[in-house]
Amino acid sequence: MLKAPRSQAIAARLGIADPTQSAECISCHGDPAPNHGPQWKQSDGVGCEACHGGAGGRSGGAGEGWLASHATVSASHAQNVARGLWAVNSPPVRASVCLDCHFGSSKPGQFVTHRIMAAGHPRVTFELDLFTSLQSHHDEDADYAERKGINGGVKLWAVGQALSVKRALMLYPPRAAGNFPEFYFYDCRSCHRAFSDDPGVPLVARTNPARPIAPGAPVWNDESLLMLSAAAKVAAPALGARLDARSRAFHAALGGDRASAMKAASALASTADELASAFERGSFDRTQTFAMIEAVLVGGANTYTDYQGGAQAVMAADTLLNALVAAGHVDRASAMAVRPALDRAYAAARDANRWQPGEFRAALASVAGQVRALR
Ligand code: HEC
Ligand code: HEC
Ligand code: HEC
Ligand code: HEC
Repeated sequence: MLKAPRSQAIAARLGIADPTQSAECISCHGDPAPNHGPQWKQSDGVGCEACHGGAGGRSGGAGEGWLASHATVSASHAQNVARGLWAVNSPPVRASVCLDCHFGSSKPGQFVTHRIMAAGHPRVTFELDLFTSLQSHHDEDADYAERKGINGGVKLWAVGQALSVKRALMLYPPRAAGNFPEFYFYDCRSCHRAFSDDPGVPLVARTNPARPIAPGAPVWNDESLLMLSAAAKVAAPALGARLDARSRAFHAALGGDRASAMKAASALASTADELASAFERGSFDRTQTFAMIEAVLVGGANTYTDYQGGAQAVMAADTLLNALVAAGHVDRASAMAVRPALDRAYAAARDANRWQPGEFRAALASVAGQVRALR
């Protein structure tokens, strides 16, 4: 990918001579895991060790790594992890590993600044369970269940959203681009909108009940916050109420002085963290999963005023429906019957340049009706 014309063009605009050698690119498009094993090659890109951990042993390649022993008959998962394999079967560990590249981290080079996006890099978006399925190369059969346990899609989705909210809030404070905060954290379309002097042309911004902000204020990208709020309302209502209150306070504080905004950010981050732990401890039955789909599709509908939240909502519906099938709560044929409605919702969220919140919500409502029938 870093040799492709698109990367070459991005690099040229940024003054990077060779993206395949630049830390600004290979920290995510390469394999930044420490202590690589002997077979690691930079040209493999995002290789096995980028997700499974360096295979060469814990301290600078010294000591025995996990590569030689991990597939032997006597090896246990715990032994492999003790030798440096990352436990990406655990939802918070997996979320943390993926978010490093699929959101950003404080490690050198691991962040797609607005400067990099303005040079041509796509917007980075993520949903832990759906993206896991898209790159899945493991089978959660009986043997796997015995060795590692099955977490299920609902937990992965919920923990992923909580840790994504936390990650954004933790990274936000120190990041700035000159006099401005880093734009990466805001909803792209709150700045990148078309406008007109014709008084007959309606304004595109819509009042959002989850965000008490003044007209014209840049909008915090709350795509994961909105999903987290839906999950919390069902699985941890008291924490959910606190999340919503702190979230509104944070949005409002962004319009004030920096110290108050940072204080509100850290309060909100701690609630997100508590929710991640609550989700990880919990388990999600049929009733709760249906209630979460309803919370996403119906409860949250009036908060999908902007593209990024809408895109998360349709991914969530897909993920949660798949989780019901995987857990045997809904048969595959019935879930397939919802597919055309779900595809219409995906289509309504395909192009951020043609975002029509009304049409999108109508598509979501038709998914909701069909899912309710399955319930
Ligand atoms: C924080 C991690 C991160 C950094 C830093 C980063 N990227 Fe990316 N890049 C990604 C991710 C993740 C995607 C895939 C986005 C998606 O599809 O969700 C991507 C996508 C791309 C794509 C589009 C791929 C496609 O399928 O069309 C190009 C081109 C690209 N990156 C080039 C670069 C270049 C050049 C740099 C350095 C200037 C860079 N990236 C820095 C994470 C990163
Ligand atoms: C983008 C991240 C990512 C990359 C890259 C990746 N994996 Fe995985 N892998 C996972 C995840 C997530 C799982 C499922 C969780 C688990 O079992 O730990 C998994 C599971 C596995 C399993 C199943 C283990 C079991 O207990 O049954 C094997 C084997 C595996 N990966 C091998 C590889 C190999 C070999 C490569 C390189 C060719 C690779 N992986 C690259 C993320 C990744
Ligand atoms: C070392 C950085 C890194 C890590 C860790 C990582 N990814 Fe990625 N991932 C990327 C980059 C870069 C791309 C874009 C690659 C390209 O198009 O060449 C990508 C692409 C993907 C895509 C394809 C996206 C699309 O729009 O087609 C999926 C799915 C994905 N990653 C899932 C995961 C999951 C799940 C995890 C965690 C288990 C994970 N990745 C961990 C860097 C990473
Ligand atoms: C706070 C306002 C603001 C936010 C939020 C914002 N941008 Fe920008 N963006 C700008 C400004 C200002 C420029 C420079 C415009 C110019 O040069 O004409 C720009 C330029 C760009 C460009 C280059 C456009 C071109 O045609 O040259 C791209 C691409 C871009 N932004 C993508 C994004 C993405 C993706 C996001 C969301 C993750 C985002 N922006 C969020 C203000 C913003």
